[in-house]
Amino acid sequence: MSFLKELFSTKINIAGIDIGTSLIKIIQLNKTAPDKYQLVKVVLNSTPAALIKDGIIIDTKALGENIKQLISTNRFNINKVVASVSGQSVVMRPINMPQMSDKELQNAIRFEAERYLPYSVADAQIKGIILRKSIEGDEKNMEVLLVAAPNEMVKKAEETMKLAGLSVQAIDLEPFALLRTLRLSVDAETFSRTIALIDLGANTSSINIYKAGVLRHNRTIGLAGNNFTKVIGQSLNLSFGEAEKIKKDKGIIRLEGDATPLNPTAMRIFNVITPIISELVTEIQRSFDYYRSRYRGESVDLVVLSGGTSSFKNIDAYLKNELGISCQIAKPFKNVNTVNCGFPAEEIEDLSPALVVAAGLAIREFV
Ligand SMILES: Nc1ncnc2c1ncn2[C@@H]1O[C@H](COP(=O)(O)OP(=O)(O)OP(=O)(O)O)[C@@H](O)[C@H]1O
Ligand SMILES: [Mg+2]
Repeated sequence: MSFLKELFSTKINIAGIDIGTSLIKIIQLNKTAPDKYQLVKVVLNSTPAALIKDGIIIDTKALGENIKQLISTNRFNINKVVASVSGQSVVMRPINMPQMSDKELQNAIRFEAERYLPYSVADAQIKGIILRKSIEGDEKNMEVLLVAAPNEMVKKAEETMKLAGLSVQAIDLEPFALLRTLRLSVDAETFSRTIALIDLGANTSSINIYKAGVLRHNRTIGLAGNNFTKVIGQSLNLSFGEAEKIKKDKGIIRLEGDATPLNPTAMRIFNVITPIISELVTEIQRSFDYYRSRYRGESVDLVVLSGGTSSFKNIDAYLKNELGISCQIAKPFKNVNTVNCGFPAEEIEDLSPALVVAAGLAIREFV
């Protein structure tokens, strides 16, 4: 029986692919037992310049070709991919609507969406997800997550995958991918609490708040690693590439009360990035305030950071001090066997915060 099953079943090998503004991340994870995974393969590669703008792929052909090369050079044995779209034009927002069936909702949401979208409803893919069928103190209404992305953004992502010779299993949204990885990497008690997962990327950062595994807030802001690199480059008169390097090697946030002297370059970097990190704190506070006002004084219990910029030295300790909330850097592979992934353990640990989205895409079909 099992022999026949093996003989006739075509194994689906899926990879998660996160096309960031700065890095393309491709990951394959295998499920070895319930809630147990093995990291089979990881690829991180610079995204060729100017191929993506504001989350929309500009040159599908060039990017598709680039991904095709990465897949073949790294000998991926996959037949499907899960990719994602992201950026400031992806809208995910809880709203209250009259109680109705799911089928009615998918029609009604298009009318409701009009006032929340910065683009025409006719040009968008829109979906409503029922979060709560009834709301305490507001009996006639239910809570719905309005999800929308421009058609063009989704179309270009699909086209790129096809041009890369890959078959698309799904185009997902980053907050759902982040949540899947979070579930895999924290204990059940922690997961049941209110967690803000903040993905600090290169072009944008996203602030996501989940309560007991349900997305309740999502906002994308145009403040991320590239802003650091640009001011460092201007201040030290360096090219973008040189500024990137010095940011990673020498950049550090000096914590209040820490009297340890910084060398002149580190001090200069710290001075020029201070206004940016202050602005980041203000934006995070704004999201937390909105959350508190929508959910009657409920607050965030824990902040988890992901994305490449979460590796900026001391950013976790700084945010913990400023927000007054415990803050940790994501460990997506805490419960994943990484021994045969092709990277030494220490290296994969250092890279892993940038791989949270890709990991969540890679396990989409397993959970
Ligand atoms: N050790 C480090 N210190 C500081 N910054 C770092 C470090 N490592 C990576 N970064 C920054 O992380 C960013 C890349 O992160 P990530 O891969 O999450 O972005 P992305 O997904 O490509 O971008 P986006 O999501 O905005 O499209 C870059 O700005 C890079 O400079
Ligand atoms: Mg990203």
